Amino acid sequence: MDRIKTFIQGFDDRISEGIPKGHCVLIAGEPGAYKSSIAFSLLYNQALAEGRKSVYITLEQSRDNLAIHMKGMGFDHEKVDQLVTIVDLALIRKNLDKVGPQSWMQIFKTYAMNLKDSLDYEILVIDSMPVLSMLAEFKNPRQELFHFFEWLRDLNVTTLILGEMSASNLDYAQCGEDFLADGIIHLKMERVGDVNIQRRIRCVKMRATAHNTDYYTLIYHQGRFQATRVISE
Ligand SMILES: Nc1ncnc2c1ncn2[C@@H]1O[C@H](COP(=O)(O)OP(=O)(O)OP(=O)(O)O)[C@@H](O)[C@H]1O
Ligand SMILES: [Mg+2]
Repeated sequence: MDRIKTFIQGFDDRISEGIPKGHCVLIAGEPGAYKSSIAFSLLYNQALAEGRKSVYITLEQSRDNLAIHMKGMGFDHEKVDQLVTIVDLALIRKNLDKVGPQSWMQIFKTYAMNLKDSLDYEILVIDSMPVLSMLAEFKNPRQELFHFFEWLRDLNVTTLILGEMSASNLDYAQCGEDFLADGIIHLKMERVGDVNIQRRIRCVKMRATAHNTDYYTLIYHQGRFQATRVISE
């Protein structure tokens, strides 16, 4: 089976060397848990190492804000802008505040489909699902999300869907996206002792994959993410 490596050192070998191609994978975590960074790092490294094309659709954070953050982390968009396309729907939101809920899903799908036709990208990032759900104002969220996930699978790309969690709520998603997704990667901020917070990563599920379900410490160091065994318990 063809797989998409996450390029998180020490994590790929625990998920059978990557995410199966074509999967829709939820990356869920608290504010600041590195959801966007992990997703962008995957696109950046896939572009550099494998020459893979991708599209990152941001619905809330502006393109400039995202690019500045990623450059600071060592993932310079300008180096891969021929392969990684950032679509700023936040800007469209700002300029078109009268777009109705029906049209939002249509705008999203039109961008994703037109770029598929013109670029034939292989990986899509949706940042984030709760924002898209909020804009689309689903009346029957589970049913409409089921159709949305099927639509993503028909698009014939590997999709990373960023989700939002609060520290106090253990649900990976609000409307059943966790059951609809083919995989879930959980990013967590763990309190260690009185003052320290460590970042953690865990593969909760990954269909068609023999994977480890443990938490690992997630470290960012000099432009690379690493997952290492938790030692300070
Ligand atoms: N140059 C840097 N090197 C390492 N870490 C950084 C750097 N710049 C910012 N950070 C960390 O990255 C965090 C933000 O990462 P990121 O945007 O990927 O998180 P997120 O989970 O997507 O957040 P949000 O919930 O706001 O979308 C910051 O809160 C900060 O802790
Ligand atoms: Mg983010």
